[in-house]
Amino acid sequence: MRLIERVAELGAWADGLRAQGRRIALVPTMGALHEGHLSLVRVGLARAHCVAASIFVNPTQFGAGEDYAIYPRDLAGDAELLRRAGCDVVFAPPVSEIYPEGWSTWVEVEGGLGTGLCGRARPGHFRGVTTVVARLFNAAKPHVAVFGEKDYQQVAVIRRMTRDLLWDIEIVSAPTVREADGLAMSSRNQNLSALEREQARALNAALAEARALLRSGERSGPRLIEAARRRIEEASLARIDYVELVDPDTLEPLEKVESRAVLALAVHFSRARLIDNALLEIH
Ligand code: PAF
Repeated sequence: MRLIERVAELGAWADGLRAQGRRIALVPTMGALHEGHLSLVRVGLARAHCVAASIFVNPTQFGAGEDYAIYPRDLAGDAELLRRAGCDVVFAPPVSEIYPEGWSTWVEVEGGLGTGLCGRARPGHFRGVTTVVARLFNAAKPHVAVFGEKDYQQVAVIRRMTRDLLWDIEIVSAPTVREADGLAMSSRNQNLSALEREQARALNAALAEARALLRSGERSGPRLIEAARRRIEEASLARIDYVELVDPDTLEPLEKVESRAVLALAVHFSRARLIDNALLEIH
C-alpha cells in the first residue's frame, strides 16, 4: 500500500491505472477509521481494481465552535487498518495541498437538498463537503466513490453535485455499520464519555421505535417523530438537534409516510454530535 500526500502524485497514479483500463474506487474519509469505513473499502474493492482511501479532516466543513480541533486523528493506526483491508493507496494530504495559497473556488449544491436537517444546524457544512469532495474527485479520478448511508443527506448532496457537474463517477452508498447495541459506528463516538456512550444507544432505539410504530399501522409524521423524540429524551445527557421525517429523494419534510420516508436525527452529547437515520417503507 502506498501513502501519498500530494495531489500531483495521486493524479499520476490514477492516470497510470486508467491507461491500463483499470477501475479506481475512492473512499473519502476524515480518518479515525472504524469497521464502517472498512466496509466502504470492501465495497470499493468489489467494484474496482484498485481502491484509494483519503484521510483528510476537512476544515471547511466545520463551523466556528464545532469539533475540528478535537476531531480524532490517528494516521498510523488508520494506515495499518487500510493496509489490512486491501487498500492500494492512502491519500493523506496536508491542508495546504487541498487548499493551496490562492485557492478560491467553492462548489455548492443550492436549494433544498443541503438546506434542511444538518444543513440548517450547520450552515456552510455541505458547501465544505462538496468543495473537498470535488477536489478529491478531480485528484483521484475515480470511476466509483463509496460513502456511508449514516450520512444520508451527504450522499444525496454528493449525488446531486456529481450529476450536475456531469462527472462520470458512480456514487455508491453502503449500509450503516452498527455496534452490538445498535449505535451507528462513527469516529465521533470516541468523544463520548462512558455514560454518554451508554446513553447513545437511544438513537438507534428511537429509530427502532418508529419502525415498530409504522409496522403497527402508524403513518403520521408528527406521531412517529414524537415517539422517537420521547425515546431519546430518556437519555438525560442527550440534547436533540432535530428529529425529522423527510422524503428519501428530495429530503423535503413529510407529514405522513405514504410509501417511503427517511426518519433522520441528530443529537448532541457534550463533545459529540451524532447522526443516524432509518428508511421507513410500507410493504
Ligand atoms: O463523511 C466524511 O467523513 C466527510 O464528510 C467526507 C465525505 C470525507 C468529506 O470530508
